[in-house]
Amino acid sequence: MKQLNEMTREELAAFAAETQARYDEFKSRGLTIDMSRGKPGPEQLDMAQADFAPAFAVTDYKSKSGFDCRNYGLLAGIDEAKELFAELLGVEPKNIIVGGNASLELMFSFIAQCYTHGIGGCTPWCKLDKVKFIAVVPGYDRHFGIAEYFGIEMVNVPINENGPDMDMVEELVKDPAVKGMFCVPKYSNPDGYTYSAETVERLAKMQPAAKDFRVIWDNAYIIHDLYDTSDELVNIFDAAEKYGTQDHFVEFCSTSKITFPGAGISAIAASDANIKEILERLTIQIISYDKMNQLRHAKVFPDVAALKAEMKKHAAILRPKFEAVLSVLDEELGGLGIASWHKPNGGYFISLNVNTGSAKYAGQLCKDAGLTLTGVGATFPYKNDPDDRNIRIAPSYPSVEDLKASAELLCIAVKLAAVKELS
Ligand SMILES: Cc1ncc(COP(=O)(O)O)c(C=O)c1O
Repeated sequence: MKQLNEMTREELAAFAAETQARYDEFKSRGLTIDMSRGKPGPEQLDMAQADFAPAFAVTDYKSKSGFDCRNYGLLAGIDEAKELFAELLGVEPKNIIVGGNASLELMFSFIAQCYTHGIGGCTPWCKLDKVKFIAVVPGYDRHFGIAEYFGIEMVNVPINENGPDMDMVEELVKDPAVKGMFCVPKYSNPDGYTYSAETVERLAKMQPAAKDFRVIWDNAYIIHDLYDTSDELVNIFDAAEKYGTQDHFVEFCSTSKITFPGAGISAIAASDANIKEILERLTIQIISYDKMNQLRHAKVFPDVAALKAEMKKHAAILRPKFEAVLSVLDEELGGLGIASWHKPNGGYFISLNVNTGSAKYAGQLCKDAGLTLTGVGATFPYKNDPDDRNIRIAPSYPSVEDLKASAELLCIAVKLAAVKELS
């Protein structure tokens, strides 16, 4: 098929009419498909529940140190859960705090702490005229939501297949008002890019003007591979150690997409100094997290090998879903010159970039025909995609059949939006 912008007026009119007819047919089907959030599908949750059944049945409530997990105590988590996350994140157990069911809550509370009390002995951010964060875009809407909640101004830095544009990042951190940055370094949300070794090195090497500069290193998709070969991410703390910048990085992760998104466990990995300050705050905030759930998780997953075995089972469910969407994108949009996307090796999303100024319209067409996507624009701070180009596809929840239909409808909408923009 010819590229759209090379078609004659007549060819374009015929293409538009044919695409419109397909759209009208879709609309008449009365679909209701939700592809808005990257949540595990029911079959993944059933699988996790079956794996957990023995652990839910255990009457044993003691951690390996003999601690009664039903009671208050062990603010930083039980040893076996700390050891599991330490192995996963490649740090010492003393540099781990195991939290509750959501890493997002840990991130929110950490930023709240910086905001109200400051970090590293620096002025609380609420007392400063301006606090800025680097927002790697497109990115995770809920990160941007936290920054927006605290009135932190976000500065967009585009991502590419190696991670954020590091020339821009290095320039921005010369500004003392720039206090931090959100990174999803492996299988980024939504593009599925993994930061290259050079990007990690450059981040570790940075000497930002702000002494209290903190990178929210959100390793949400650390072992969430779709294929046997995983993307490789350099351990941020190993890289930072060479430059003495460990305090700049606070890492977060959870089992939300390993076990249960509403009932998993989460963790922070950080330098000795950051762990100390976070624990001082937590002492006031909570008496202890749910250690029975930590115990269940540690029983089902005694080590990272067990976690990785579970992720292979998830991959077997997710891979056909991703591949169904990707093959429709190839078939429908390949060669038309109106959209681009990256085939991720892991994570939960596919990021579709369409012609400038046409994403919102395409999203609206989908909605009118019964397909709900992640709000177009939501992958940018303030829900404002300045080029109106990015559409996040979340293939994990719907069935393969629904995904095929959704992807086809989305492609039709993208074509109609491109025709509108061209005419
Ligand atoms: C990058 C990223 N971080 C964090 C989360 C949420 O994690 P949790 O369930 O641990 O709060 C998500 C969920 O989609 C995510 O994509």
